[in-house]
Amino acid sequence: MLYFGVIGHPIGHSASPIMHNTVFRTLNIDAIYLPFDVKPENLKDAVYGARALGFKGLNVTIPHKEEITKYVKPVGLAERIGAVNTVDVPKLEGYNTDAIGALRTLEAYNVDYEGKVVLIVGAGGVARAIAFALAGKSTLIITNRTASRGLKLAEDVRKYGECIFYPYERVEELKGKFDILINCTPLGMKGFEEKLPVPESLIENVVVFDTVYNPIETPLIKLAKKRGCKVIYGLDMLVYQGAEAFKIWFGFDPPILVMRDAVVEFLRQHL
Ligand SMILES: NC(=O)c1ccc[n+]([C@@H]2O[C@H](COP(=O)([O-])OP(=O)(O)OC[C@H]3O[C@@H](n4cnc5c(N)ncnc54)[C@H](OP(=O)(O)O)[C@@H]3O)[C@@H](O)[C@H]2O)c1
Repeated sequence: MLYFGVIGHPIGHSASPIMHNTVFRTLNIDAIYLPFDVKPENLKDAVYGARALGFKGLNVTIPHKEEITKYVKPVGLAERIGAVNTVDVPKLEGYNTDAIGALRTLEAYNVDYEGKVVLIVGAGGVARAIAFALAGKSTLIITNRTASRGLKLAEDVRKYGECIFYPYERVEELKGKFDILINCTPLGMKGFEEKLPVPESLIENVVVFDTVYNPIETPLIKLAKKRGCKVIYGLDMLVYQGAEAFKIWFGFDPPILVMRDAVVEFLRQHL
């Protein structure tokens, strides 16, 4: 039996256990994936404990994604980003599959992001992962409620490609100046503000990618569809980041649709 888990604090509503356990069942893999509530002061013990217990893989979520880089070696994009969400436990190596998952999502929707102007709203963990994933491929504009945080992200990303910060209060001025909009704020998420992350006037003739996945149809997605924009669901990014984690642990691609159906069912039950 192979052991996997996701560590976070709190961990109650993670979709990862159902997503991975469904694939294990479908592929007849003798493995189990469990959620673990790990307080920040116990992170080191949890990582080394998992290794001592023979775990094969861990996912890592809020608030441990950055702190865990002290205990596992970040590889690939995780090193640039400074955050890890997937661990190869025996090797103590850390990956950032949010970043790879976002790129795979764009590709799955046949969205050509190379050479395009991408407006990223937000400068937190997800914005950071996506910005580093797109750096050097797209021209990036970052906007964020807290300017200092947005400026810092733009400065970090600029080492790898074109990236500027644009003030959140003046974002309406960017109308017609970008091709893809990516919402990396929690605006529109269940239990959060219903507000759109950008003024309505910007939702026109652009691809709209909302990383929020609960609800699946966010207010931003609904408006974008009404305006005839191509839309990309946060649900798909969630599935692709999980699929990338599976590939790191097993060396082959899992059945995407099986994972997606499991997450849709999970979200239906938790809406
Ligand atoms: N699809 C997926 O696989 C996936 C995975 C993880 C997360 N997500 C989604 O991504 C969202 C962000 O996650 P995260 O980990 O990046 O969070 P985070 O690190 O807390 O960052 C949140 C960002 O949203 C901004 N923000 C928060 N409240 C706002 C408001 N009322 N108005 C304007 N901006 C606001 C913050 O701005 P300040 O800097 O001003 O605070 C910050 O830039 C989550 O809520 C979740 O829905 C999706």
